[in-house]
Amino acid sequence: MEKKILLKESDIPRQWYNLAADLPTPLLPPLGPDGKPVTPDMLAPVFPMNLIEQEVSAERWIDIPEEVLNILYRWRPAPLKRAVYLEKHLKTPARIYYKDESYSPPGSHKPNTSVAQAYYNREFGIKKLTTETGAGQWGSALAFACSLLGLECKVFMVRISFTQKPFRKIMMAVWGANCVASPSSETNAGRKVLEELPDTPGSLGIAISEAIEEAVTDPSGKTRYSLGSVLNHVLLHQTIIGLEAKKQLEAAGEKLPDIVIGCAGGGSNFAGLAFPFTADKINGADIKIMPVEPKACPTMTRAPFHYDFGDTACTTPLMAMHTLGHAFIPPPIHAGGLRYHGMAPLVCQCVNEGLFEPRAYHQNKCYEAALTWARTEGAICAPETSHAVAAAIEEAETAKQEGKEKVILFNYSGHGLMDLSGYDAYLSNQLTDYELPDEELQKYTKDLENLPEAEVRKSGKW
Ligand SMILES: Cc1ncc(COP(=O)(O)O)c(C=O)c1O
Repeated sequence: MEKKILLKESDIPRQWYNLAADLPTPLLPPLGPDGKPVTPDMLAPVFPMNLIEQEVSAERWIDIPEEVLNILYRWRPAPLKRAVYLEKHLKTPARIYYKDESYSPPGSHKPNTSVAQAYYNREFGIKKLTTETGAGQWGSALAFACSLLGLECKVFMVRISFTQKPFRKIMMAVWGANCVASPSSETNAGRKVLEELPDTPGSLGIAISEAIEEAVTDPSGKTRYSLGSVLNHVLLHQTIIGLEAKKQLEAAGEKLPDIVIGCAGGGSNFAGLAFPFTADKINGADIKIMPVEPKACPTMTRAPFHYDFGDTACTTPLMAMHTLGHAFIPPPIHAGGLRYHGMAPLVCQCVNEGLFEPRAYHQNKCYEAALTWARTEGAICAPETSHAVAAAIEEAETAKQEGKEKVILFNYSGHGLMDLSGYDAYLSNQLTDYELPDEELQKYTKDLENLPEAEVRKSGKW
């Protein structure tokens, strides 16, 4: 039995898969400040037109440019691995496969889209990209892509992570990017937050406001903003993960998986693995598809589905999504990449349809799973990834109780070698579990009353 299923470079998928083409009920459109759907030209100060076209595309397949593939070959096709040592430890009849996205130079799935985004921006004549980052994975992925494609890069890093994860900043500097802690005193949005909440740990919502402001106020017009998750085109670029995994499962002699799992912050690594299999589910396959989030930031499992801004300063269009409110300041859990207040509209639409079964875990349970993983499979996973590992273990244990040979596939979204402080806190019993209290949820979602409601659309098939 092969433990690693490798594809040749010539087997790499040459098109991304766009789930929007196959959704049983269409997505609600993003809205502008006047409550009317935004038009592509309204997004033009923020994103280049070639990416806006992808954002609104209804084409099922979109070609991956040759130059993007040439960069992706540095680590793609990524291996699909069978977690045989974990299976043995759990004494489960389940076969557990994972797509190893930790192989990329920055160490996660994020460069699948950062490379594509930097490429399309450069093609459009853009010279500089700005962005936000939580854990630092996305910031380092964009820094890496900009350095290969010759763009300048400025990263606003959520302050709590800036302090907790100093090595990610150094990685960004090595790739030539400029990284500052957010809220910063460099933007109006940052200064306003600092005046009101000088000790705030920061949030992705605030960092996004700062990055957008810096992009749209560049008088040369040659700066754009880049987002590492949530948007349709970002999820699109990540589908290379699931498309490769399909070929690899077939090569391993498997049919479709019974269970597909990914951790979900803004939804991109989960969607990247899951969307190609979601197409099978829409066409009748019986697959349990599970996005996993922290109980401290329970977007899909507890937050209302409503129109909301993507950032704290209310500069983005309104998106229909499960949201904890744009003012949400998440508790400082270690999975920095899973602390966003919203969730990708495409993922939310599938949750509403009943195509996905979201689940939420406490961080101690996830670190326990991460330790089991490290002591069986050997690798040290990112705190975000540990949520997927915990779900895979839980499902493998259920398969054991049921005596069923289930095929479990999950996304190993990144390594945790830059995130060891969370492991340190866990090993010294200093990690606390935090479940967002109802009063906090109500406090943060109160402002939504002033924004348009979003209709929950369901075909009723799932
Ligand atoms: C390793 C890793 N996994 C998962 C995530 C969550 O992001 P997304 O939901 O967009 O995949 C992040 C975000 O920073 C990350 O660094």
